[in-house]
Amino acid sequence: MNDGTPAPSGPNLSNGIDLARLADGEMLLGYVGPEAVLLARRGEEIFAVGASCTHYGGPLAEGLLVKDTVRCPWHHACFSLRTGEAVRAPALNPLPCWRVEREGGVVFVREMLEPAATPAPSAPSSGSIVILGGGAAGNSAAETLRREGYAGRITLLSADDSVPYDRPNLSKDYLAGTASEDWIPLRTPEFYLERGIELHLNARAASIDRASRHLALEDGTRYAYDTLLLATGADPVRLTLPGGELPHVHYLRSLADSRAIVAKAATARSAVVIGASFIGLEVAAALRARNIEVHVVAPDAIPMERVMGPEIGSFVRRLHEDHGVHFHLGTTVAAIDPRQATLKSGEKLPADLAVVGIGVRPALGLAERAGLKLDRGVAVDRYLGTSDPHIFAAGDLARWPDAYTGESIRVEHWVVAQRQGQTAARNMMGQREPFGAVPFFWSMHYDVAILYVGHAEKWDAIEIDGQVEEKNCRATYRRGGRVLAVATIGRDIESLRAELELEQRPVAAAANPGAAP
Ligand SMILES: Cc1cc2nc3c(=O)[nH]c(=O)nc-3n(C[C@H](O)[C@H](O)[C@H](O)COP(=O)(O)OP(=O)(O)OC[C@H]3O[C@@H](n4cnc5c(N)ncnc54)[C@H](O)[C@@H]3O)c2cc1C
Ligand code: FES
Repeated sequence: MNDGTPAPSGPNLSNGIDLARLADGEMLLGYVGPEAVLLARRGEEIFAVGASCTHYGGPLAEGLLVKDTVRCPWHHACFSLRTGEAVRAPALNPLPCWRVEREGGVVFVREMLEPAATPAPSAPSSGSIVILGGGAAGNSAAETLRREGYAGRITLLSADDSVPYDRPNLSKDYLAGTASEDWIPLRTPEFYLERGIELHLNARAASIDRASRHLALEDGTRYAYDTLLLATGADPVRLTLPGGELPHVHYLRSLADSRAIVAKAATARSAVVIGASFIGLEVAAALRARNIEVHVVAPDAIPMERVMGPEIGSFVRRLHEDHGVHFHLGTTVAAIDPRQATLKSGEKLPADLAVVGIGVRPALGLAERAGLKLDRGVAVDRYLGTSDPHIFAAGDLARWPDAYTGESIRVEHWVVAQRQGQTAARNMMGQREPFGAVPFFWSMHYDVAILYVGHAEKWDAIEIDGQVEEKNCRATYRRGGRVLAVATIGRDIESLRAELELEQRPVAAAANPGAAP
């Protein structure tokens, strides 16, 4: 995690700046006292907000203004310029705002404003919403409910033993040892207490009784709900091979998993990473940062080719090789023993540690037993409602009708899960907000961030603009001439622009309601 908080630079905005320096639709980075402040102009309106994204400190002055919002170049959070509110994940906290005053043609930024108060409850206070899953979707749903004034009971049940945390970091800085443990929780336990969100950890649900609208935990505790959000995410696919259950063979989904790998990495000298997926390769990078010899084994010919295509996949391979990672592609591990992994060919690789990243499966057991409609995920409509009007679903396990292609899709991205949690919360409060966000994810390999917007399971052409090797490129994935997705390296603003263009495409779902269950 790199806190990009800009050191105050640019003009001192409390001394005033000539309005002519700020054209309509432009931003200017300056400061007030010790604080970096972003000045933005929309028509005759001037806004002054904090210049650092509240997610990881991304430089908002390098982001994109869209109407009266600013979007962060690093992971596409979106903030209201009027209120500072984080209107779209992954940021959760608002930006500070300053009072702006105009005197003739000069704009002065005055004192910092008090944060906007939480709106008064607008929903009945007698209801009860149960959120199952304390991950990306579940946590943002709980927060959004309170932020939008829901005054009923909110119960957040999580099988995890930790308060909701920053899962993407588990394979990045945390695993590499460059982010401390206190960066990982999304919130403190007090945050939930103060907002009346009843968070129960180590609470694994065993069944849902739809007729009586009750949910039962494995320990028998029952919870009544008026509305239920299913946000139980996905589980790692397990290896079935000799030695696959040995204690030095690890999976990575939870904070406990990451802690266990960190503990083992303290003494390991060599590791085998099974799977050249995003997570597998991020793990490889993190282990190299700990000076561990790393071998990546995968059946693919080129890592990440299925998602990113051959050019970016080959670049990622070379990037890892430059950092000392050894690839064994087009093959699989046949057996593991405490000191080594044996490939199908018989070749043996030293491995005091093995990390398996061969994909995940949506956690569908509860939904299946409850008789909800499934479609390679929990089938939801545009409003994230399942086939039961009292149950919504969001995150890795939900398959929804994509507004842009009309196809039903399920993705495994942090920001999508959070944004679905936000939309589901509003719809559980009775709104009818279709989920229309364009899928977005990022992946980090050493100092290289790959940003991806859209969704292309299959394409017939990839156009590369720029030089992949120079870490400065845009890959556009098309099918039938239509742009489905865009990946960028070193061109963050282009990623934001591509997201906006994809958002503005004609909405297919209106013509084809898709997988409405
Ligand atoms: C190591 C790692 C790195 C990642 N990096 C990135 C990245 O860089 N970019 C990106 O876009 N995405 C990334 N992802 C994917 C991203 O984290 C997921 O898409 C996202 O977390 C999905 O959110 P979710 O709410 O659906 O599920 P989760 O966040 O997995 O949350 C599911 C929750 O449900 C709980 N649960 C499960 N079953 C039950 C039950 N029966 N009863 C009660 N609770 C239950 C779990 O304990 C958990 O709290 C990464 C994932 C991992 C594991
Ligand atoms: S730093 Fe701004 S969205 Fe992550």
